[in-house]
Amino acid sequence: MDLNLNGRHALVCGATAGIGRAAAHELALLGAHVTLLARRADALEAAAASLPRPAAGQHHAWVAADVSRPEALGTQVQALASARPFHILVNNTGGPPGGRAIDADAGAYLEAFHQHLLANHALVRALLPGMQGAQWGRIVNVISTSVKEPIANLGVSNSIRGAVASWAKTLSRELAADGITVNNVLPGYTRTQRLEQILDDRSATTGRSRDAVAATMLASVPVGRFAEAAEIAAAIAFLASPAAAYINGVSLAVDGGRMQSI
Ligand SMILES: NC(=O)c1ccc[n+]([C@@H]2O[C@H](COP(=O)([O-])OP(=O)(O)OC[C@H]3O[C@@H](n4cnc5c(N)ncnc54)[C@H](OP(=O)(O)O)[C@@H]3O)[C@@H](O)[C@H]2O)c1
Repeated sequence: MDLNLNGRHALVCGATAGIGRAAAHELALLGAHVTLLARRADALEAAAASLPRPAAGQHHAWVAADVSRPEALGTQVQALASARPFHILVNNTGGPPGGRAIDADAGAYLEAFHQHLLANHALVRALLPGMQGAQWGRIVNVISTSVKEPIANLGVSNSIRGAVASWAKTLSRELAADGITVNNVLPGYTRTQRLEQILDDRSATTGRSRDAVAATMLASVPVGRFAEAAEIAAAIAFLASPAAAYINGVSLAVDGGRMQSI
């Protein structure tokens, strides 16, 4: 199986923590040059320095940017791409705050739309000329299982994830002729800062302890544990590899079997 990414250049967003950071690590292990994107410069610098470099001449970099400002993001990343084209894009950022759909105001929906759909779109448009020039590209969007089964008390998140999945499916059909695939990874409960935030929210909303909330969540996962970020990252790296060339337009759940739908 060809997993070799030597000579490929990846942009990994949300790469200072959690799933994004783990994805950057896996892509670097497969030989890619990796550029990390997130807001905190100090954390980016540390994450870039810790990335493996198994291939000769492998060069990692970072850029501090805020994906909640898609226009500025597009301009910033376009400049990077014209200096060194990218072949792989991992669209990933922090999740929207919790809460019921009915309680969220229009501003909360708009903010999520900017940070998720419009940011992803700005990044694809900035990187597309490079991928088309190479006739090879991989776009992997980190979304959520809520694309298929909405999750209680994540109303804004559920709504925006569906929009991103529809955008991605449409793009997968538009870009495939240029050797570019577009796929989604849907993480289940994964041990990151985001999961800590969800445990805190549910504990505050229900008045139950965090341990009790965690136990209820775990009871819904057939494999009986939360995922490690590296397990989600492995799926992202596979979809980014040459071996996955014929996988296009899918939403791959990595959830320990939690979803009930087929
Ligand atoms: N963990 C789970 O159980 C789980 C389950 C399903 C779906 N997901 C989804 O998967 C995605 C990643 O989750 P995670 O658990 O890895 O999250 P995380 O641990 O909270 O990490 C989020 C990353 O995104 C960056 N980020 C946040 N806001 C940003 C912004 N405005 N601009 C640029 N970068 C930003 C953060 O870095 P800076 O702070 O340095 O910017 C950090 O690197 C999220 O969309 C989450 O909702 C997670």
